[in-house]
Amino acid sequence: MRKPFVAGNWKMHGSKAMIAELLTGLTAGWKQADSVDVAVCPPAIYIDYVRRTLGSAPIAVGAQNMSDQPAYGAFTGEISAPMLKEFDCRYVILGHSERRALYGEDDDFIARKVEVALDAKLTPILCVGETLEEREAGITERVIERQLQAVIDRVGGEAFGDIVIAYEPVWAIGTGKTATPEQAQAVHAFIRERIAMLSADAAERMIIQYGGSVKPNNAEALFSQPDIDGGLIGGASLKAEDFLAICNAAAKVKG
Ligand code: 13P
Repeated sequence: MRKPFVAGNWKMHGSKAMIAELLTGLTAGWKQADSVDVAVCPPAIYIDYVRRTLGSAPIAVGAQNMSDQPAYGAFTGEISAPMLKEFDCRYVILGHSERRALYGEDDDFIARKVEVALDAKLTPILCVGETLEEREAGITERVIERQLQAVIDRVGGEAFGDIVIAYEPVWAIGTGKTATPEQAQAVHAFIRERIAMLSADAAERMIIQYGGSVKPNNAEALFSQPDIDGGLIGGASLKAEDFLAICNAAAKVKG
């Protein structure tokens, strides 16, 4: 049995005051850590503050991005995997569609980062997903296959047992449009089958989150699907009540 995993991607949101309030709500309200893994991914500058504010609460911390360079060096503006580890990050989101589209990150660059994260014992949350044009052109699977293949070429299939995948259809991100549970399930099953061709064990262990306008009112239906193991939550992760409702939905249907 896979343990469901819900993570909040705060994107470029937050202030100390807002984070203190949000974490007060999350730490007071989160009671189901035995059945669901939960993480928050703040902007990098707040990682240490979040980690210290969480104390011993059963909520992990992840980063939203990371350098493709493995250690230290002359790479102005970058943050390395060992630095994230030193501040107790467990996860790192890689290849989010906003980074692909707005910052020109391509499949191979993202795959290199996945390898660096795995080497540093950080769990990558690898985002994949198609644009609206790609879905309408009927090439969703081809796009996702390509995004996965770059990572497979670099780390092999077995490594996917230690990678979290977030399927995030670009057209559902921040738009209020959600893939239907059936649409999402079809892609999740495709991803798991693709990895199963290389390693049945990794495919079985691999967590596949859905991301794209997950809200308290649709979380349960999405998480009820057999290959949807949790969610990567944007907007709704910024309100304690909403994020807790989504985490509780995962516990209810999967816990
Ligand atoms: P929304 O939940 O705001 O649609 O964002 C999804 C997302 O991009 C999470 O990484």
